[in-house]
Amino acid sequence: MSVLIAPSILSADFAALGDAIEAAQRGGADLIHIDVMDGHFVPNLTLGPPVVKSIKRIAKVPLDVHLMIMDPDRYIEAFADAGAAMMSVHVEVLPHLHRTVHAIKALGVQAGVVLNPATSILTLENIAADVDYVLVMSVNPGFGGQTFIPRSESKVREVRALLDRAGNPAPVEIDGGIDQRNVAAVVSAGARIIVAGSAIFHTPDAERATRELKAAALGAVLTVPR
Ligand code: DX5
Ligand code: ZN
Repeated sequence: MSVLIAPSILSADFAALGDAIEAAQRGGADLIHIDVMDGHFVPNLTLGPPVVKSIKRIAKVPLDVHLMIMDPDRYIEAFADAGAAMMSVHVEVLPHLHRTVHAIKALGVQAGVVLNPATSILTLENIAADVDYVLVMSVNPGFGGQTFIPRSESKVREVRALLDRAGNPAPVEIDGGIDQRNVAAVVSAGARIIVAGSAIFHTPDAERATRELKAAALGAVLTVPR
């Protein structure tokens, strides 16, 4: 894998979701990132398995489902049935993270673990060998269009090193405030899955924005091989 672009539909026009997804795919989207919020873990509500199922019918690329919910164990099967290829859960809500990660994998879905900006990478220490990817939040989750938290860049580097120590080549994903100005820096730090919402869908041309973000990300990966 070099670097994958995962447009987040949170910033798309939900009345024209199919068009938004198709535009992002024409621009080279590698994944579609879907943000699930419950109004408890984060102060916002979004969507559930029926919407994922509809997206699955039209999407040509795998669906990356980011669960920002209090009790993900209750829903992982429903999201797997709906067509998630990747599913990430927050360490902050899971006392039995190991069980959850393996339950996701047992459903044939790639399992990701997410860290909020204030969550230490030490929470990954005993699960690093088991995960299929780690998602570093570079904003506090809940809304699109927030400003990138600069400390996230070194956190990506630290997570990459931790995964390497565990002998796990699993990619690091980054989510929140990513745009043309900072994408090269996070890729250079080791991020290999790039989520972007407003930088893609709050532009007049989502296809072009996806293409340009991907070009910038790939440019950075070429200069810093890993
Ligand atoms: C935030 C979500 C993100 C969000 C990113 O809670 O997890 O995926 O859509 O949006 P931008 O790229 O606008 O920060
Ligand atoms: Zn997300």
